Amino acid sequence: MSTAKKEYKRITTKTLVEMKKNGEKIAMLTAYDYTMAKIVDNAGIDVILVGDSASNVMAGHETTLPITLDQMIYHASSVIRAIERCLVVVDLPFGSYQGNSRNALESAIKIMKETGGHAVKMEGGSEIETSITRILTAGIPVMGHLGLTPQSIYKFGTYTVRAKEEEEADKLKEDALLLESLGCFALVLEKVPAKLAKEVAKSLTIPVIGIGAGNGVDGQVLVTHDMLGMTHEFHPRFLRRYLDLFSEMKGAFENYISDVKSEDFPNDNEQY
Ligand code: KIV
Repeated sequence: MSTAKKEYKRITTKTLVEMKKNGEKIAMLTAYDYTMAKIVDNAGIDVILVGDSASNVMAGHETTLPITLDQMIYHASSVIRAIERCLVVVDLPFGSYQGNSRNALESAIKIMKETGGHAVKMEGGSEIETSITRILTAGIPVMGHLGLTPQSIYKFGTYTVRAKEEEEADKLKEDALLLESLGCFALVLEKVPAKLAKEVAKSLTIPVIGIGAGNGVDGQVLVTHDMLGMTHEFHPRFLRRYLDLFSEMKGAFENYISDVKSEDFPNDNEQY
């Protein structure tokens, strides 16, 4: 059953702002490949994020830092070939925009040209202001990302909740207002107290999409492999699992192995 308030044929950055105005929550999930993106888009998702979490989920790295611009381009172009309706946002990976604004613009242009993606996402506030401005000036929509920003994990030291103290909360609020004033079309808030996230969402006209940021924001994002229960060692408090695919898939693989070993597969109808 669909709970969407209004049927949108194609989601754009403008649609998301309209959804916030209309009080309609935005649903966002990650995808990194054609097949998953096809299913997620077909289900009616509003936004697919080709997240740099591909570094963890697809490549098995401990952090998001190792993934390269070319690897992000490979994932994003696979996703774009699958989708018909949703907006596709592509993460600018670590090292592709922090150096200087010229380098940032080159990275964003490469993503837009070589993937057909609709927007980029960047982690950080005032520290990357000039890069965001330059990319926006080129006509490329930017989604911001504040709170827990995994590309800075070695600065934080842990993946625990951010902005619990007043000083960090104040900086986050200032950065959120800055990102809106620069022209970002939306903002991801990751792992911050629900009260703070609600306050930020109320102070902005652009939508705030939360992950571990409570229900007072304008939408939610989860890593698809986590919500499907494929990454079963990972169970943060904010994660709701909709399936236990690790167990289901493992069971299917075990059945297949057993059928091959016992010569039950293929049977007479499964051959030529
Ligand atoms: O890379 C990613 O998947 C993300 C989400 C967790 C927001 O940035």
